[in-house]
Amino acid sequence: MIKVAIEGAMNALDGDGPRAINARKAFDGLETLDGAGWVNLPMDYTKTSQSIKDASAKISDSSDALVVIGVGGSYLGARAAIEFIKSPNYNALPKSSPDIYFAGLNLSGEYLEQVATLIGERDFSVNVVSKSGSTLETAIALRFFKELLLKRYGPDGTKDRIYVTTDGGSPFDAMAAHDGYCRFEIPHGVGGRYSVLTAVGLLPCAVAGIDIDDMMRGALEEMETGIDDACLYASARQALYRQGKNVEILSCFEPAFCSMGQWWKQLFGESEGKAVRGIFPAYADYTADLHSLGQYIQQGERMLMETFVTFNQPRSALTIPCGPEHDDNLGELSGMSLDAVNRAASEAVKKAHIDGGVPVIELYVPDMSAKSFGTLAYFFQRACAVSALLSGVNPFGQPGVEAYKKNLLATLEQIKVE
Ligand code: PA5
Repeated sequence: MIKVAIEGAMNALDGDGPRAINARKAFDGLETLDGAGWVNLPMDYTKTSQSIKDASAKISDSSDALVVIGVGGSYLGARAAIEFIKSPNYNALPKSSPDIYFAGLNLSGEYLEQVATLIGERDFSVNVVSKSGSTLETAIALRFFKELLLKRYGPDGTKDRIYVTTDGGSPFDAMAAHDGYCRFEIPHGVGGRYSVLTAVGLLPCAVAGIDIDDMMRGALEEMETGIDDACLYASARQALYRQGKNVEILSCFEPAFCSMGQWWKQLFGESEGKAVRGIFPAYADYTADLHSLGQYIQQGERMLMETFVTFNQPRSALTIPCGPEHDDNLGELSGMSLDAVNRAASEAVKKAHIDGGVPVIELYVPDMSAKSFGTLAYFFQRACAVSALLSGVNPFGQPGVEAYKKNLLATLEQIKVE
């Protein structure tokens, strides 16, 4: 379970009891909205778990690498989970599971060519993920890797190496049915940024050797017991927003959390940034960003709130080397665990930021296991939806994203004519 503390948020909820109650009410009304299909996913998981595990076993048996093609909510969750649970250096570390590459998240030709170079002569499969089944970046990257597959394995071999995760009835769904690819359907009412606990996130995770049963156990536990803390987080950030804190920095002292920070930015940014309102979500990777954003956070414009993510159990027991050969100025720290130093830094930063006028919310997570990832993903999704509703916007849908897409298609049409 995630524990939320708001001591550092200058008692943001003081005199604001009704908003906490409203948060609970907002969540109770959530399930009636189109887009709330993710709420019960942890209970429905067993319906699809075996087919995901079977596909994962097939990919792992036949491939040294899996290319996950998707953008936005169609890849951020899988990348966040793999880096959080395994490592940001997952591909480079020794392991028995396939490497995982992400593609389709940009329109750079150089990026695609480099992924192909990294795969080299090794056997690979592709998991293309798109709810709409019509996203430009995704479609282009799919063509590129399909060509490579066709050259290497021919039409029959290619058929067995493309896995499609999409909405029933989408253009990719039709393509998969026509070409005979293995298909996973994204359940109705589950939008991209709320889809990490479906095959969208679970298939790449299973291929990376992650225990997806454990992940979903964490989500289920959070679903059953975590409502109060999620509502507290949602209420606190909305109370602070009304006090002029327009930017929320999510920060963490573990680099394995960085990609989850990117996932969180998308979840909250696309869910809340509507109708000329919404808290702008930013992410800080400590201690690296203390030496870059730190100055602004401490003394820049006071429109910031900060949410610290802390893990109760460290994953590493590394200690600072000691011995007479070390004649630097670390003296008294010799032999101390890095975790103790990291925690001391976290406390010091929190205090400095609170003293500098940045209200602080704290989220305590048990550890960096698969189960805790599921717990945290569900916690954030629920808190985000409640927070958006408290702010008076629909957490689902992202009409603003369409604006640039329209412009891009018009420009491409123009280029074709010329
Ligand atoms: O959260 C969302 O819905 C979006 O960010 C989508 O995930 C993103 O735009 C990609 O869309 P699609 O999955 O349809 O390719």
